Amino acid sequence: MGSTLVGCGKAMPALKIGNTALEALVDTSDEWIASRTGIKTRCIAIEETSADLGEAAARQALGWTAGGYSERPLIPEDIDLIVCATITPDCITPSTAGLLRRRLGLSNAIAFDVNAACTGFVYSATVAEAMMAASAPNAAGASGRNPIRRALVVGTERLTRLTNWADRNTCVLFGDGAGAAVLEWDESRSGILGSFIVNADDETNALSCPLSYDVVPPFDSRGVSTEASRQEDPSTSRVDEELAVREAVDAGEPQQVLRMNGPHVFKFAAEALTEAVRQVLSRTGLTLDDIACIVPHQANERIIKYAAKKLDLPLDFFQMSIAQTGNTSAASVPMALADAYAEGRIKRGDKVILTAFGGGFTSGALVFEA
Ligand code: ACO
Repeated sequence: MGSTLVGCGKAMPALKIGNTALEALVDTSDEWIASRTGIKTRCIAIEETSADLGEAAARQALGWTAGGYSERPLIPEDIDLIVCATITPDCITPSTAGLLRRRLGLSNAIAFDVNAACTGFVYSATVAEAMMAASAPNAAGASGRNPIRRALVVGTERLTRLTNWADRNTCVLFGDGAGAAVLEWDESRSGILGSFIVNADDETNALSCPLSYDVVPPFDSRGVSTEASRQEDPSTSRVDEELAVREAVDAGEPQQVLRMNGPHVFKFAAEALTEAVRQVLSRTGLTLDDIACIVPHQANERIIKYAAKKLDLPLDFFQMSIAQTGNTSAASVPMALADAYAEGRIKRGDKVILTAFGGGFTSGALVFEA
C-alpha cells in the first residue's frame, strides 16, 4: 500500500522571453546564458499570479485522473489535503493552498503552504505522503487522525517578482510557472517508496530574500509610545530612523529581491543533488539499475551534468526542461515531471526519483513507482 501518483499537470504564463531580450537590460549575451546555464527561454507572469498558475496546473492534474490512473475519475469532494509549495504567494494569508481550495471547490480539503524554496515540492509531497500513511486506518479501523485518502500537491511560483532586473548574476536565471500532482492512497500499489529531506545552514547567506514590512509598531523597545518617545528626545526616535532608512531604500535599489552568491550555491547544489539521490536509494534498498529516470530541480544544466558524472549516469537519464523554463523554484520539479510524462519517459511500474535543492539550504529526493 502507498501514495500513488494518479495525476500530474503544469502551467506556464503566456509571455515567453528569450535570452536576447535580456541583453537590452544587463551586460549579458544569449551565448553566455545558454552555455553557462542551459536556459534559452523563460515565461514571465505579467497578468497571472501564483494562485492562477497553481490553479491551471491543478486543474490539469485533477483532469488527468479521468485517464484511468485513479480508481475512478475524481470529483472535488475526493481531495482531503492540499499542500502548496511556494516562496511567492499571492498574499501572506490566506495561504495559496487556501486560495486553491476555494477556487477549485475542494471543500473537504485541509490546506496549507510550505516554504522550502526550490525543494518545496519534494518537501510537500513527503509531508502529504506521511499524512496519508499516518491516517490509514489500523487493524481496528481507526487512526485518530484526519482521514486523507487523496492529496493535491502543488508547486507554483512567480520568481520574476523577486528578481533584481538590474543584476545580471540573477536576472537571467529565473522564470515563472506551476506544476501539480494528485496522490491517492492505494491498498494494492506502493507509490512513493521512500524519501530523504535535509537542511543545512546557509551560514554565509549565499541565497536570501529579505521581507520588508510596511508597518512600524507605535512603541519603542521600552513600551513608550512613539509620540512620547519623540517628545523625550527627538534626536533618538527609532521610528524616524526607520522611516529615513525606508525612504533611502525606496529611492534606490529594490530590497525585496533574491540575492545569491552563484558559485557558492552551485557548489552546495551539485553535492546536495548527488547526496540526496544516494541517500534515497540507500533508504529504499534500491540501486540506480532499478530507476527509469531522475527528475531533478532545473536550476542550471551544469549542476545536472555534474550530478550525472558523479553518479556515473548518462545525461539523458535526467529529465531536462530548463531550456524552456529557467529556474522556477518550487514549480520546477513538478513541471519537469509533467514534461517527463508528456514525453513518454515514464511508464506504469517505472521507478522514478524526484530531487531538488534550494534556499534554506534545503535539499532532498523521493522515489516513487509510477
Ligand atoms: N552574463 C554575462 N556574464 C555574467 C553573467 C551574465 N548573466 N553573470 C555572471 N557573469 C560573469 C561574472 O561577473 C563573472 O565575471 P568575472 O570573471 O569577470 O568576475 C563570470 O561571469 C563568472 O561568474 P560566476 O558567478 O563564477 O559564473 P558561474 O559559472 O558560477 O555561473 C551561475 C553563475 C549561473 C549563477 C551559477 O553559479 C549557478 O547556477 N549557481 C547556482 C544557482 C542555483 O542553483 N540557485 C538555486 C537556488 S535558487 C532558489 O532557491 C530560488
